[in-house]
Amino acid sequence: MLIKKPEDIPSYEITPESQFINRRQFVKSVGIVSAGMFSPLASGYTVPEVNEPLTPENIVTGYNNFYEFGTEKMDPSEHAHRLTTAPWQVKVSGEAEMTGEFDLEDVIKGLTVEERIYRFRCVEAWSMVVPWMGIPLKDILARFKPNSNARYVEFTTLYRPSEMPGQKALFSSIDWPYVEGLRIDEAMHPLTIIAVGVYGRKLPNQNGSPWRLIVPWKYGFKGIKSIVSIRFTRRQPVNTWKLIAPSEYGFYANVNPAVDHPRWSQASERRLPSTLFSPNRRPTLPFNGYAEQVASLYDGMDLARQY
Ligand code: MTE
Repeated sequence: MLIKKPEDIPSYEITPESQFINRRQFVKSVGIVSAGMFSPLASGYTVPEVNEPLTPENIVTGYNNFYEFGTEKMDPSEHAHRLTTAPWQVKVSGEAEMTGEFDLEDVIKGLTVEERIYRFRCVEAWSMVVPWMGIPLKDILARFKPNSNARYVEFTTLYRPSEMPGQKALFSSIDWPYVEGLRIDEAMHPLTIIAVGVYGRKLPNQNGSPWRLIVPWKYGFKGIKSIVSIRFTRRQPVNTWKLIAPSEYGFYANVNPAVDHPRWSQASERRLPSTLFSPNRRPTLPFNGYAEQVASLYDGMDLARQY
């Protein structure tokens, strides 16, 4: 049974003989797992299966993008232990009935955490398969009762230079804090989750503890980490990578093999682990393989222009 309450997820530091550990041994022995094996999920939504091997845990937690801790892939796992993640406050504002400052614990109390095995495709053309532990974002947002003006949701990462050395860097191209956004129908889609864990344990800091966004059909940069603010808006919010280079990164950032990045092809990807001699390259799928579930959200849009 892979359905838990948030407070039941063991923290990353301890390694109890929990059912998750048993599950991990099981995964190791089988090699390939599929979300469908564990259906039906608490949400009642049937998550499409990913019949591909999981990316090893040490890569998921050791090869990261989290510029608040540096620009190299190893920087986050080296430096993120400095971040204090409890207690954690979240500010909710904008077009909703319930706004204010909340303790994260209260925001997610009573909600169910589901294991979601998703493909994860970075805009840099590498990819992984990750067993997230997550809560459907729609279940969280519904608690704040957004009103009919809420057409978008904006998310903001913690700004705390004392614990996030990248935010103190003299020559950073990022105007901190990191921000992201979704259209409300994207945010409410059952595939969109807030991850609070990975590989059966609480999220390690380098993966965005205590909670981060996962939108499996979009490039990884939409998956904003360590969120401290949620704002419901009428207008499309800005997002960090689009602010840095609008000709290279858009608001939608749907995985799209037909629209190349100006500096590299998006037609294929390196599935990690990948080496020079064994690149493990595979074709990139439209919407990262989730087209059947989400393509209709974009009916009538020119995705080459709204990339
Ligand atoms: N969130 C914040 N706050 N800062 C970041 O630098 N990087 C993004 C995204 N979320 C980033 C972030 C990018 S570019 C990617 S690919 C994913 O996080 C990486 O997530 P992972 O390290 O868990 O694989």
